[in-house]
Amino acid sequence: MKRRDFIATTGAVVAGSVLANPFAASAAGAAKKRIALVGTGIRGTSFWGKPIVDNYGDIIEFVGLCDINPGRLEWAKSYMGVKCPVFTDFDEMIAKTKPEMVIVTTVDATHHKFIIRAMELGVDVLTEKPMTTDETKARAILETEKKTGRKLIVGFNYRYGILFSAIKEQLAKKPIGEMTSVDFHWYLNTYHGADYFRRWHGERDKSGSLLVHKATHHFDLLNWFIDSDPVEVVAFGSLEHYGRNNKFRGVNCRNCAYTSQCKFYWDIKKDQTACKLYVENEKYDGYIRDNCLWREDIDIFDKMAVQIKYANNVQVSYSLTTYSPYEGWRIAFNGKEGRLESWEDIPWRRQELINQGALHAAEMNQQGSAASRYDEIFLMNNFNPEYQMIKVEASRGGHGGGDQRLQDKIFRNPAMADPYKHAAGSRDGAMSCLIGIAARKSIDENRIVKIEELTDIKPHPTRGA
Ligand SMILES: NC(=O)c1ccc[n+]([C@@H]2O[C@H](COP(=O)([O-])OP(=O)(O)OC[C@H]3O[C@@H](n4cnc5c(N)ncnc54)[C@H](O)[C@@H]3O)[C@@H](O)[C@H]2O)c1
Repeated sequence: MKRRDFIATTGAVVAGSVLANPFAASAAGAAKKRIALVGTGIRGTSFWGKPIVDNYGDIIEFVGLCDINPGRLEWAKSYMGVKCPVFTDFDEMIAKTKPEMVIVTTVDATHHKFIIRAMELGVDVLTEKPMTTDETKARAILETEKKTGRKLIVGFNYRYGILFSAIKEQLAKKPIGEMTSVDFHWYLNTYHGADYFRRWHGERDKSGSLLVHKATHHFDLLNWFIDSDPVEVVAFGSLEHYGRNNKFRGVNCRNCAYTSQCKFYWDIKKDQTACKLYVENEKYDGYIRDNCLWREDIDIFDKMAVQIKYANNVQVSYSLTTYSPYEGWRIAFNGKEGRLESWEDIPWRRQELINQGALHAAEMNQQGSAASRYDEIFLMNNFNPEYQMIKVEASRGGHGGGDQRLQDKIFRNPAMADPYKHAAGSRDGAMSCLIGIAARKSIDENRIVKIEELTDIKPHPTRGA
């Protein structure tokens, strides 16, 4: 193969073009938008809570926080640096604080309760992914949104990441001709992957399984990239590493007799935030953050393979691994004219990409490592051996800067231009979690599941049409 290095630095272009003029709507002197938050766990406080106070305090005001755990509520208030009242009753919070928007960051299987109730009480909602965990709840959310006329935003932050944005931008140029299939494989390492099995995520009645909790991100990216609606899903999955698949188990890591033997021993006492957030508040609700990942009530899959057929005839092969030696992913789009591939954090590739000299220089002048890191998009034509390697600037912080861009779009300037349709609503939320729900059903019932069995939304060759 003849190599032709064709390097374009796409990241800055994407960030600039997608998110032009993020501060345009800063309304000096205007009343602050009243926001309430339900679910003051790690995501609610550290992704939405404190960053909103820090970055949007000039235009946003938290008027209430709600959680079932009063201890976690008090911690959240002080961590976020807010003075608003706290509630253990959601309706009471809405009645007393009259928010314009509620942010939902509770356990996945409870999202629908707060989304629906908030809309019934006349409040717009921003929910964390997954929008919900089963098809009945998804239907109820869509019906309530229609009936009440309120707005639901689903916080799909991955879309806003620089590399994913750059892939979307490249696909829009149709470099591979008609897209026919996609390969997408996601690897969770033994830290991140294992952590899902330590707490509520390991129980499907709370998380819907990782096919919903985690893969909703990936299915949303697929829907967005392929720009069509899913039609049919068939999947395999099983639990054969974590859960009951071990000879020994404890109650939790703190009081376990097997700490020296267990490869997954985690000393939560070394994690100050986890102690403040969870350990010190166990007495209120019994939520144990460092549960044994070998416990027998884990009932989700730890390996998953899913095939998806789209209304535009594209077919997808997807997999999710929960005990990989490294954390990363690979995606490839196959077309009649070519192939577009990308990946992140594949170790052998990373060694080549990191220029240690530049890395050290950047660290010394306090600019971080972004300047010395980049990700790649590899573009090939089926009939020409030359290829393009598109270089995308990488930033480590907050999903490649995507988190900040998502929040700018929602809070700073909702009207900002959105040429690549990064913003996601209830239809996107439904279509992504329905793929996971269909995959779960396919494994349970050993059959192909049609998306139309689960929803009144009619899958369309062009997404959302
Ligand atoms: N977009 C992302 O990348 C991302 C990352 C992490 C988490 N999340 C999502 O954020 C949400 C929260 O995750 P987390 O990691 O913060 O979990 P967490 O366990 O730390 O927090 C959940 C909080 O919800 C509270 N809660 C549970 N049931 C409740 C109820 N019925 N009423 C009120 N409060 C209730 C709990 O007490 C806890 O404080 C989940 O939906 C998760 O999927 C998204």
